[in-house]
Amino acid sequence: MPSSRPVPPTLVDANRLWVDSRVRALVQRRVEAPVLLRLGGPVTGGRVLELGTGRRGTGLRLALEVFGAGRADGVERFPASVAACRAALRDLGDRVDVQEGDATALAAASASYDAVFAHHVLHHSPAWRAAVREAARVLRPGGRFYSCEMTARIVDSRPLRAVSHHPADGDRPTPDGLAEACRAAGLTVTDQETRLAGCWTALVATRP
Ligand SMILES: C[S@@+](CC[C@H](N)C(=O)[O-])C[C@H]1O[C@@H](n2cnc3c(N)ncnc32)[C@H](O)[C@@H]1O
Repeated sequence: MPSSRPVPPTLVDANRLWVDSRVRALVQRRVEAPVLLRLGGPVTGGRVLELGTGRRGTGLRLALEVFGAGRADGVERFPASVAACRAALRDLGDRVDVQEGDATALAAASASYDAVFAHHVLHHSPAWRAAVREAARVLRPGGRFYSCEMTARIVDSRPLRAVSHHPADGDRPTPDGLAEACRAAGLTVTDQETRLAGCWTALVATRP
């Protein structure tokens, strides 16, 4: 269910320092997106969905500018982030659409997208396996799920926990756990690359 709660606070303003920073957007464009593109290829002219857009909308921008999508929709659970994301992407006009929503219970019709992107959203969602199942549901046959995540190894590390708020301890994506969740959702994992001693993983899976 969409929530009217404000974005939760962190001990330091991790959003300003990192999540919404230009440096991070640059890392996403120069490092993460090229890995995903190499693993999964472009989505030329396709209709794509991003789960958890955040405020800056980098994932939607990359979908159009790097992956070649024709149209990119986004869902984001916090209304303030939806508004900020819409404002940040105003220059892209009606090629993007951002709506308040829950990645674990998408409003989109089944088999309606050529690709679903999840950039660092699953480790923010206690029910992340449901988000993977929803991604699988809304993909058309042959459609691709692109995921890029910080894994449990870093998210649950003491230094990160000291400065950054993440929900619910316990079940959090690991490289193997993410691949397994994709398979459990009926997807075929076509490629995965894990770096930084298991702290970061990029995965592409296809809906048969
Ligand atoms: C670390 S931010 C990443 C934002 C963006 N994808 C990026 O890479 O810059 C994670 C975002 O996912 C959103 N989010 C977490 N769980 C969600 C859910 N179940 N449904 C929709 N959005 C969610 C959070 O509100 C937050 O904006």
